[in-house]
Amino acid sequence: MKLGILTSGGDAPGMNAAIRGAVRTAIAKGAEPIGIFRGYEGVLQEEITSLSWRDVGGIEVRGGTILKTARFLPFLEETVQQKAADILRKQKIDALLVIGGDGSMRGAAALEALGVPTAVVPATIDNDMPGTEDTIGYDTAVNTALYAIRKIRDTASAHERAAVLEVMGHHAGHIALAAGLAGGAEFILVPEIPFDETETAEKLLALTKAGRTNCILICAEGAAHAHELASKLSAETGLEISATNLGYIQRGGAPSAHDSILATTLSAAATDSLLAGKHGFLASIHRGNIKEISYEDAFMMKRALPKDLWALGREIGMGE
Ligand code: F6P
Repeated sequence: MKLGILTSGGDAPGMNAAIRGAVRTAIAKGAEPIGIFRGYEGVLQEEITSLSWRDVGGIEVRGGTILKTARFLPFLEETVQQKAADILRKQKIDALLVIGGDGSMRGAAALEALGVPTAVVPATIDNDMPGTEDTIGYDTAVNTALYAIRKIRDTASAHERAAVLEVMGHHAGHIALAAGLAGGAEFILVPEIPFDETETAEKLLALTKAGRTNCILICAEGAAHAHELASKLSAETGLEISATNLGYIQRGGAPSAHDSILATTLSAAATDSLLAGKHGFLASIHRGNIKEISYEDAFMMKRALPKDLWALGREIGMGE
């Protein structure tokens, strides 16, 4: 049996560990793993290669993805999806394992509907994938953001000024919330919860007057941009406020132990099931356990921001 493996969408730390888990599980079960480069684009270009046990040796410690990745917008078109399904059949790929986020899952669901057996392993730093409580790369990104908060806090404290830190998340504030809570940020700004700039400025000024001289405002990119927000707040309060956009630093790097284990166990489980003839599922995490759920069910389960955690973060960050 030939198992196609691809990574798609934004890279996430742990994708390589997932590739290794899938390749070695497939070989151990007597199947042939086939790497497809650049996600769905590579299917169309037929950029494929056979992967051996040794090809994936040592990759688990590296960020990025050895298979490369792409956001391939033409894959939204049915004619392109049909072409990809035909190519996969021509290449005699019996099943396809997709490692990526919700856009990648839509691609897998489209191929599944065209008769290609597929499974998805969730990987995105944003942790905004429907149907799962955890995604590969999220924990590492949160730790990177926490590391940044602690460094920025030191310098903000030394200079007695406030600091805005922008993290990724166009539509989701999970990274901002988790890092903000862990790092004791005074303000956590997320796209899911609207905020008022004037009110934020007033609270910042009040906290500063009360003696909090190094307030941290962490914002997801979908809520605010660091430099813009810092200059607006500065104009409203007269305070000195630094701005940092963490950027791609939070997408790269070696995966945390948590992400490495998550990637390895999810990809091994998904591979096992594909080889056993099961397909059309997301290998998800539910209450800490691996569960395989249909794409249809996964898409119905919106991944909401835990608002109670956000409220707690604000309360204990801004309290007194
Ligand atoms: O992978 C998700 C994500 O990191 C988002 O948080 C971010 O907005 C986006 O990717 C940016 O990715 P790129 O610039 O590679 O398209």
